[in-house]
Amino acid sequence: MFHRIEGHESLRSNMDADALLNPERRMLRVMQSKGHHEWTLTEILTQCNWKDQAVAVGAGHGLTNAGFAKTNETNSEIIRLAEEGRKAIENGLLEARLWKWISESQSPKMSDLQSQFERHEAGPGVGLLKRLGVQLEGGVFVSENPSLVSSEIASRKSFLDELPAAPEALDSEMLQHFKSRRGLIESVISTTRTWSITKDGKAIESNALIEKQSVSEITTELLQSDAWKDAEFRPFDVTLESATPRTGRSHPMQALIERVRSIFLEMGFSELVDDYVQTAGWNMDALFIPQDHPAREMQDTFYLENPQSIDLPEHLTDAWGAIHEHGGETGSVGWGGSFSAETSKKGLLRTHTTVNTIQYLAANPTAACRVFSVDRVFRKEAIDRTHLPEFHQIEGIIMEEGANLQMLVTTLKTFYAKMGYPEVRVRPAYFPYTEPSLEIEVKWRGKWLELGGAGIFRPEVTEPLGISSPVLAWGMGLERLAMLVLGLDDIRQLYISDLEWLRNQPIL
Ligand code: PHE
Repeated sequence: MFHRIEGHESLRSNMDADALLNPERRMLRVMQSKGHHEWTLTEILTQCNWKDQAVAVGAGHGLTNAGFAKTNETNSEIIRLAEEGRKAIENGLLEARLWKWISESQSPKMSDLQSQFERHEAGPGVGLLKRLGVQLEGGVFVSENPSLVSSEIASRKSFLDELPAAPEALDSEMLQHFKSRRGLIESVISTTRTWSITKDGKAIESNALIEKQSVSEITTELLQSDAWKDAEFRPFDVTLESATPRTGRSHPMQALIERVRSIFLEMGFSELVDDYVQTAGWNMDALFIPQDHPAREMQDTFYLENPQSIDLPEHLTDAWGAIHEHGGETGSVGWGGSFSAETSKKGLLRTHTTVNTIQYLAANPTAACRVFSVDRVFRKEAIDRTHLPEFHQIEGIIMEEGANLQMLVTTLKTFYAKMGYPEVRVRPAYFPYTEPSLEIEVKWRGKWLELGGAGIFRPEVTEPLGISSPVLAWGMGLERLAMLVLGLDDIRQLYISDLEWLRNQPIL
């Protein structure tokens, strides 16, 4: 399989020889010695007296850019040994080892084979032998034509010995055979380059190609003496491609958390960090989520065995009970039914970070505040492309006199604009603890994606805690946002430690 990439000529037009680097001068001089010639890498290396391929490739690249040479790249397929193939070279092919054992034993029995070979070898091994015409008769291996088996195995071995090689140079039946077996051989594309001189390259006078003494490294000695004044400095070509150094860096999730954090800090928020072991009381009752709400069921929430129950002050369970049963002092009618303080005390893994903001408000009910958190929450979700049982929420509240819906929407829009998503819209939604409630959507690749919920806490939530000003609140999915930022269509990619992927992630 061959295909040719057209060489590109003269990107920098009218370059003169003066700007050429020493390796480029040397290579061009060599190429001038033969008018029409396709120079291979080996030829260039010997003629220029270089050992390092990178020098030749670099010089060829430079000359091509200057319009003095033309690069031709040919990609060709090479068949080489893969992991299992290298092992087979060292230890012998599986069928060769089995055949040796069969040939050397008096009565080669299937039952003995299992003790002589590993289980993962015995099964496929018998299959290989059968295809070579070795039969099992009464549990014993027999072959009608042993020399044919031996010669087939020998030619398989010599096939592997020939690698690496171009597919054209190989026996095609053997190649098909090995392609159908797992991990023995692999095909790789290798690039071969040749260079030829152009008309402009030929026109350069040879004395313009004398190598310059140039300084490529600036030393203290050079700077201390006066020598630097007359020195020729080797210019750097910052447009050349180079290898990316592999350095330690933050995981993209961590980097994203840092970015979210700095945006909220910049907007005047303080960060709240709190435990994820919580009571159903704070996680749900305080937020006026009815005790028979489906989200509270075992199949949605991780309840704990230890601690199964966490004590709560009676004044709290009483206050929540009153609100839930008849609305307390708020004028609300509540949910009716009877409230259970025992249910409140159940230990669980928080299902949202709102459990922490509500406790912050309970402890600081009157001072105006702007608080956010980026933290882990837990829900019993089956893992799939868009769901994980452990994920993160970006949570925030603003409490102050006169806070209103417009302010909430503006704050969220500002946050997403700072994240790089200027198109945000809100839609009416429902949460038991907010009124009005909204859903936040962000436009991404022409589609609206839902990223979270928000609203203004209801009096049923704020009044029992003695909160006097309106509280704007929101909770948004961090992984969802990560999927947008990193362009993922599978959320699991974030947590599988795929090193290759991690290395290639942008720095956030
Ligand atoms: N807690 C909600 C959730 O988990 C989000 C939310 C937070 C909604 C605050 C309104 C107010 O999805």
